[in-house]
Amino acid sequence: MSIGRTTANFKTLKYWGKRDKTLNLPTNSSISVTLAQEDLRTLTTAATSSSFEKDNLWLNGKEEGIKGDRTIACLKDLRLLRREMEAADASLPKFSEWPIHIVSENNFPTAAGLASSAAGFAALVVAIAKLYQLPQLMSELSKIARKGSGSACRSLFGGFVAWEMGDLTNGEDSKAVEVAPLSHWPSMKAAILVVSDDKKDTPSTTGMQSTVATSDLFEHRINTVVPKRFEEMKKAILSRDFAAFGEMTMKDSNSFHAVCLDSYPPIFYLNDTSKKIIKLVHALNEQEGKIIAAYTFDAGPNAVIYYDQEHENKVLGLIHKYFHQVSGWEKVSDQVAQFEDLSIPFD
Ligand code: ADP
Ligand code: DP6
Ligand code: CO
Repeated sequence: MSIGRTTANFKTLKYWGKRDKTLNLPTNSSISVTLAQEDLRTLTTAATSSSFEKDNLWLNGKEEGIKGDRTIACLKDLRLLRREMEAADASLPKFSEWPIHIVSENNFPTAAGLASSAAGFAALVVAIAKLYQLPQLMSELSKIARKGSGSACRSLFGGFVAWEMGDLTNGEDSKAVEVAPLSHWPSMKAAILVVSDDKKDTPSTTGMQSTVATSDLFEHRINTVVPKRFEEMKKAILSRDFAAFGEMTMKDSNSFHAVCLDSYPPIFYLNDTSKKIIKLVHALNEQEGKIIAAYTFDAGPNAVIYYDQEHENKVLGLIHKYFHQVSGWEKVSDQVAQFEDLSIPFD
């Protein structure tokens, strides 16, 4: 039995749009940070035995079975690699021919725009790769996780990670690479504000297909805005320039939600509370005379606020002043909390 443990990744430059839906090849390169905080983590165990009847998957205590082409695609690739090892060494047990059982648990809401598919598929690939004792490097395995969910390829690495879109049609060059380890910028922190843990009504895959097909703004985003930002974001990370990192992160979040709104029919992921959080962060940065906090929102209303440890009291203090922690989702820590909107003075 083997265990895969991964955490969700928070985007600073968004992946939104596929040029190949089956292989999950993106229309742009993207960047994210996989933090070591265990607040949003997936724990997956994988076991194989010739006595198992069939492949099976349990998610959060419920038997889901192996449905969906994406999980099947990941299992197929992992088995192929194991089969190559077995062919080269006849003494290895024939794991590749035995059914596999996967048990996974997310300690945060699934399908609510908090990147469960990223942590989930990354943990699944890591757990099975360990079980099969595969020698492949993380970048190689990231191509398999990518077929499960695009964002999952970046979760194989901790720290600052880029997903290079590649240009081959078979996807062999569309993989995750490390920009810098977390130790490069250990004071980088993220607070996750859970505005809603409801399942989103437009899943990422459906949403991006609609944007690619209908948004006029989208061409401008992928051809002009993102390629430049991709290079500048890597530079900001390497030079630990929080102001540049923060500004680009916020602008990219806004650009992503703009192409969602420009889709037809429009896709709304932000709600009124999200918008208040945006205003609050801008007000804080204005008051400080520099960018000390940066928001980003994925395909849902929940916020991730980046800040440097040195400003933790200021940033979390302000959030606590206007939002009040409520229970409901059991994972309520200082940095991850579900919020009730109090009286924010920004209506
Ligand atoms: P999210 O915003 O949470 O990533 P998505 O719509 O992108 O939402 O993906 C949610 C889907 O990801 C789930 O319905 C499930 O199929 C898959 N998923 C989530 N967590 C796991 C997990 N731990 N193991 C395997 N698959 C998972
Ligand atoms: C907004 O990776 O969930 O979080 O590849 O279809 O599984 P699929 O989509 P998914 O989309 C994530 C979109 C995003 C931005 C990002 O992760 O960069
Ligand atoms: Co997802």
